[in-house]
Amino acid sequence: MTQVLTLRAAALGLALGLPERGMPEILAFGRDAAAPEFWPEAPRSSRINGMDEAVPSAVLLPTGGLGFFGWPAISGHREGRDFLLDFTGWSVTTEGEETVLEARDPVAEIGIRITISASPTGLLSMRTALTNQGAAPYTIDRLMAASFVLPAGEARLDYFTGMWGREFQSRSTLLSDGLWLQESRRGRTSHDRFPFFFLAAGEERIGFHLGWSGNHVIAIDRLDDGRRLVHLGALFEPGEIRLAPGETHESPVAHAGLDSAAFHAFVREELMDWPGGAMRPRPVTLNTWEGNYFDHRPEDLMAQADAAADLGIERFVLDDGWFGRRDDDTSSLGDWFIDRRKYPDGLKPLADHVVARGMEFGIWFEPEMVNPRSELHAAHPDWVLQVKGRPLLLSRNQLVLDLTRQDVSDHLFSSLAAVLSDLPVSYVKWDMNRDLTHAGGADGRAVTTAQTRAVYRLMARIRQAFPHVEIESCASGGGRIDFGVLRHTHRVWTSDCTDALERLEIQRGARRFLPPEILGAHISASPNHQTHRRLTLSFRAVVALAYHLGVELNPLTLSGDERAELKSWIETHKRLRPLLHAPGRQFLLEPVDGRHVWGAAADERIVAFVAQGPQMVGEQPPPLTLPVDAGDKRRWRVAAIHPAKPDFIRISEGQERLLSGELTFSLAALRQAGLPLPMLRPESGLLLELEPVEGGHIHG
Ligand code: GLA
Repeated sequence: MTQVLTLRAAALGLALGLPERGMPEILAFGRDAAAPEFWPEAPRSSRINGMDEAVPSAVLLPTGGLGFFGWPAISGHREGRDFLLDFTGWSVTTEGEETVLEARDPVAEIGIRITISASPTGLLSMRTALTNQGAAPYTIDRLMAASFVLPAGEARLDYFTGMWGREFQSRSTLLSDGLWLQESRRGRTSHDRFPFFFLAAGEERIGFHLGWSGNHVIAIDRLDDGRRLVHLGALFEPGEIRLAPGETHESPVAHAGLDSAAFHAFVREELMDWPGGAMRPRPVTLNTWEGNYFDHRPEDLMAQADAAADLGIERFVLDDGWFGRRDDDTSSLGDWFIDRRKYPDGLKPLADHVVARGMEFGIWFEPEMVNPRSELHAAHPDWVLQVKGRPLLLSRNQLVLDLTRQDVSDHLFSSLAAVLSDLPVSYVKWDMNRDLTHAGGADGRAVTTAQTRAVYRLMARIRQAFPHVEIESCASGGGRIDFGVLRHTHRVWTSDCTDALERLEIQRGARRFLPPEILGAHISASPNHQTHRRLTLSFRAVVALAYHLGVELNPLTLSGDERAELKSWIETHKRLRPLLHAPGRQFLLEPVDGRHVWGAAADERIVAFVAQGPQMVGEQPPPLTLPVDAGDKRRWRVAAIHPAKPDFIRISEGQERLLSGELTFSLAALRQAGLPLPMLRPESGLLLELEPVEGGHIHG
């Protein structure tokens, strides 16, 4: 029996036709999409694809070999046999937001289950599972999580590229005929091939993401009628996924949504699992890395903690260098016991000191890794991912532990648990500083996918045993940022580059995917440690302030003036944090002539950040227009500007009056005509607070 199914996630619709035989046909997908009335008697040619029997090509998860000539989204075999898949007998069950489609291939003896979630936040999420119902093992070569369709015609792909320290660089390209393929083979989400993008074609513009921290494939395939199928899924090594009789393999989850706001809402309302059930205000953090590196001196760190508390900092995170004999990055990963040379009395005095100053104590681990120079590796050389007869390739002097082994995972759990039980720890910075190579398990088979799942399991176990502990996902900066890892973690370290000028673009990119309160942004020293660029404290603060704010420098090195200035920026952040981190009317504009603008608008206050990267090419900056409610009937004014004297190249008397709050304006004017802001000097910025004027209504 055929059936039409329509799913809706807010404005995003998906209509599917379930045929007697073959994959569900995607009848409509996109904004307000609804099913056409005439399916399945579609008046289309009976010779689609040149076949005498019509084989539709816009289907979920097409399989090859039976008249579909595009890129197959599922393939597998039994020792070369059963290489064709053709499912029949679709059944549908719906429970709450979740719809499950099931069918089976009686010839290959494979069952399929496609689970689609339609979230009120506006995301449609899909995952797919195959079950081996036969008597012999079945090897899955490819199993995409989901397929979506876009209209025919020119298509524009907005995606990201990057590298260490340069994450989330926005790029755009037109797609021509043929296949666009992104394969990521680094064993982590990666800095360079991020699994999130927007695709625009015809009237539709849709964002897609694969929530997965391992190898992935994204394929955008142009169909014979010009439409495009978008497939997202994990990428397998040869022979990696082999199902014993009765076994099931399920893909990660792929998501689609109409805009960044839908992705943000999903993160806030469905994805994150906060200690206590809800997000607390994001604590301003001091991270010890750039201020100390491996040079840990307890008295000095305590003095830094005192200075941090004075600055208004709320969380103190002890980064790399506290364990084993970790004097540089050549040793000790895996030896998760406190270095008694550096901390003769252990870490408790420092942790207690931090807590006594009213701050939370956090600590760094890199659980998945081991240095060959470590006690752990000396005791268990067989615990690393390796392939017999192949060289062990090092990266940052380290190897990757095989977390698919229960003994390794148990050992890591106990090592972390010992530290988390002995100390008042409420935060773990969970790092992962190398890509996976020769990812073979004990039996010599590839375990890349299983390793990623094993990491999730270890994180989940830690969360369960220590439910009050938040986890930060870090991987040489932003190398592991995705919805898979965010189910177990609470913040990401956006980039190891803390240079505010570089961060303008990195944060703009990341914020198109994640809400600002999840993205770590730190004020670090000048000159910057990565780029050696010198930047003013106000520019560094303006760029970091709207995110999960942190400080990453030794506060004892600040002058009195710098300390006072930093303290006042932190106060401003805390005052505005409820607005900056709240769901609702947040905005992020496209940069114009090097000027970046972002902020948030609430009923009683609008906060706008304006930052000038490189020197402008134009003679004048364009007036600052903001996406505010033009129907608002009140008059508004500039209530505050930070820093009090921004670095303007020149400023007119009228502009002075506007910025000092003397002149008032309507939101309609702010939206359409804009505020004539003076030109900022390159590498400088400001924060504007706008407020309605008491009794200042517009009449008539
Ligand atoms: C990685 C992280 C940094 C820091 C170092 C410590 O590079 O991204 O933030 O924790 O490791 O070794």
